[in-house]
This record gives sequence, structure tokens and C-alpha cells, in this order.
Amino acid sequence: MRGIGANDPCWCGSGRKYKKCHRDADAQGGGPRNAAAVRPGTVGPRRAVPAHIPRPGYADGGKVRPAPRLADPAERLARMRRACRAAAEVLAEGAARIQAGVTTDEIDRVVHEGYIARGGYPSTLGYHGFPKSLCTSVNEVILHGIPDSRPLAAGDIVNLDVTIYLDGFHGDCSATYPVGEIDPASARLLRVTKEAMLLGIEAVKPGRPISDIGRAIEAHATAHGYGVVKAFCGHGIGEDFHLDPQVLHYFDPRARTPIEEGMFFTVEPMLTAGSPEHLTWPDGWTAVTADGKRAAQFEHTLHVGRDGAEILTLGPDGRP
Ligand code: MF3
Ligand code: CO
Ligand code: CO
Repeated sequence: MRGIGANDPCWCGSGRKYKKCHRDADAQGGGPRNAAAVRPGTVGPRRAVPAHIPRPGYADGGKVRPAPRLADPAERLARMRRACRAAAEVLAEGAARIQAGVTTDEIDRVVHEGYIARGGYPSTLGYHGFPKSLCTSVNEVILHGIPDSRPLAAGDIVNLDVTIYLDGFHGDCSATYPVGEIDPASARLLRVTKEAMLLGIEAVKPGRPISDIGRAIEAHATAHGYGVVKAFCGHGIGEDFHLDPQVLHYFDPRARTPIEEGMFFTVEPMLTAGSPEHLTWPDGWTAVTADGKRAAQFEHTLHVGRDGAEILTLGPDGRP
């Protein structure tokens, strides 16, 4: 522990006092040791987006404000299908670059170029001030990790969360990947988190309350002894990045909003090997598990059809 004092800043970079941050987790021996924890790296300069690419209203330092809604439902669906397919393609390109020794900033470069090659804008770039073109969340980072100079290491897990703004619509998807060989407990966390997302998607039925989704996800997580992060949820999406409804990943009987045909929303559960409580780094974005144990997330954007969900962000191979 390098003799860190109770009132010293925590080794994890959160900016909190050690006693208010990782001390208890360290004492339990369950959290990451100093050497293993993810630390903030250096965030590179903002990447440029060519002027011919249409940008959302917030792209140039503007506020996030609701965009006008396209009236024609068939046109909205066609454009959402295009944006979401592009997002899934870009995610696959980013994933193909994952390898020990590669920095998350290098993945940011690949993904940034992927959006632009398709005529799209990186939805996260400038969104409430977010500085990069995707989120990269490693090990105990739950979500909203900022790509930086940290090289991936064999045994890491990394979530890539890719969102493109194309033809006036946002398409949003993410997956968590192994870096090289990972331990069996991490492999199981990835498998169960993806299963939980798919079970949540299967629960999407017009007329049913939206709480059905969280109920299905939470049941699967609990059966495997995992936590479900409650502080972040899925969301409506379309002309704007984040819209109603909120999609909780746990069961809350108050979430009575009926699922309706024609809705677009994401399902993006985060499961944790230990406690689902989180802390936020001083960068204001990076959310890590408070106990330092690993977390995983998977995300799709859906369209609600007559019989249930159409996954709009299927991979280029047609699989979720
Ligand atoms: N893609 C994330 C989501 O699933 C949102 C990232 S917003 C950012 O909702 F600002 F953090 F990039
Ligand atoms: Co996302
Ligand atoms: Co999302």
C-alpha cells in the first residue's frame, strides 16, 4: 500500500481522501491492488470532424437542446436503421483493433475515422463536454471511460460504447471484450451480462410495462450472484441522443410506462462482480465500482414492432 495515509488522496485518482475512497475495499482484500487499478492516463487533443459532416446542435460548444422531430414514422425508422447499422459497423471496427499494447486513444482514432467514413458525426464528441469519440471502459470502470494513453493489457476487459449521428439520428451500441486471455470469472461476467441484455430485449412487448425489461435483467444477474448498476439506465433515442423513456435495468414497480409500438430506446445493463455502487473520477465522467471489482456492459438500440423488439444495432454478421 506504499504507506498511503487516511487523509492522502486515494491512489485510484478519484481525488477523494483515501479513507473516503478505496481504503475499505483494500482492507477487505477484494478490490484491486495498487498496481492493478485503472488509473487516468493522458487525454489527447480533440479530433477534428470535416466541415461537410452534419453536426448535432451541441457539437461546437452549444447546449444540448431537443431537435425537431421528423413527422413521417416510416422515414424515421429508415433513418434509425441506417444510423444503427453504421454504429454497429463502427463498433466492430473498433473491436478489431483491441489488442494488448494498444491504447484506448488508438481505438478512439479508429472509431472516429469509422464514423467519418460513413458521413457520420461522433455523438459523444462535445456532448455535455465529453472530449472523445467513444467511451472506453476498462475493468472496474462501469461506463463513460474517456479514451486516453493507457495501453490495454492482456487480461483486461474493455467496453467500447459507440454512438454515431447520421442523417439526423443517433445510433448507440456497446459491447465488452476480452483483451487476450482473461480469467474465467471475467469471462463469465461478460457472458452473463450479454445474456441479461438479451433477456431484457426479449421482454420488450407492446402494451407491457417498461419495468418488465429490468425485471428480466435483474433476475438473471441475481441468479448468478452479480450486482446491477442502478445509477445509469437505458434511454429513448432518435433525433436526440438521450430521450424518454428511462429504461431501468432492475425491477421498479413504479416504472409503469407502457411499451408502445414505434418507440426507439436502448437496453444497456451494467453488471458487477461485487457491489454495484459507484464512484466518479475527478474528470466528471469515468464511473468506477466503489469496491474496485470488475463491471461489464452490453448495449443495443431497439425499435418496438408489433410483436416485440427489432434490434437495430446487430453486428455486420447479423448477430447481436
Ligand atoms: N453511449 C452512452 C450511452 O449509452 C452515452 C455516452 S455520453 C458521453 O448512453 F458523453 F459520455 F459520451
Ligand atoms: Co452507448
Ligand atoms: Co445508450
